[in-house]
Amino acid sequence: MKYVIANWKMYVGTRGGVALVKAVVRAYRGKVDLPEIVICPGFLAIGDIKKILSRSRVKLGAQDAFWEDEGAHTGFVGPSMLKEAGCEYVILGHSERRALGETNDLVSRKVRAALLAGLRVVLCVGKDVERELRGSLEGVGRKDVSHLLVVYEPEGAISSRGGGAADLPDVLSAVLIIRAVLKNLFGGAVSNPVLYGGSVDGENAYTYLREDSIDGVLVGSASVKIHHVTDVIGAALRAMKPRDL
Ligand code: PGA
Repeated sequence: MKYVIANWKMYVGTRGGVALVKAVVRAYRGKVDLPEIVICPGFLAIGDIKKILSRSRVKLGAQDAFWEDEGAHTGFVGPSMLKEAGCEYVILGHSERRALGETNDLVSRKVRAALLAGLRVVLCVGKDVERELRGSLEGVGRKDVSHLLVVYEPEGAISSRGGGAADLPDVLSAVLIIRAVLKNLFGGAVSNPVLYGGSVDGENAYTYLREDSIDGVLVGSASVKIHHVTDVIGAALRAMKPRDL
């Protein structure tokens, strides 16, 4: 299975998001052999997007969640609230949040709370891969780890930093490190999806997706442009072997 995860960041609100997601659903209506497509809008758009996705195979995710699940926490959104709103996935530890002070310790608390609520966690690492991964997974038990996806997203490759997509050999070696750390932490039987993110668009997606060891892509700025979205999904479909379908 290949994953195409759209991180809309703050690029679109509800009106633009609804139009975009209607176009995505229309493009793949009735098609069953699809990659796992996950749309992660801003919190406010989640309810409206959920209505459109409810009869499609496209999944819903959020861009963050708090580490407590309920209580006196003004302004935060807990993982069970996301679950109730129809989210199956949540992105955690994104470098744009780490840059604002989110530490590995905070990320690990979020990861544990989200897994406990039954969300699938899309954990981003990218600066010091091994340290971030170990720190962000502190306290996560082996029995919960099946709901974890890891994205290698080197800071400099994110489009807003202007560095351009990472070179494939760099991505492949980071993916190897991620798999080795997961194996070391959770034992040999784990086979969590490992994705790449950073300036992925319709033109370069296949470079990453065709690699067996790269299970998918996390797409930011290109994920709010319908032609890029369909091209990335097309690349994932081309890359999927019959056993993936
Ligand atoms: P980008 O962002 O595709 O715009 O580089 C990816 C991400 O930050 O998730």
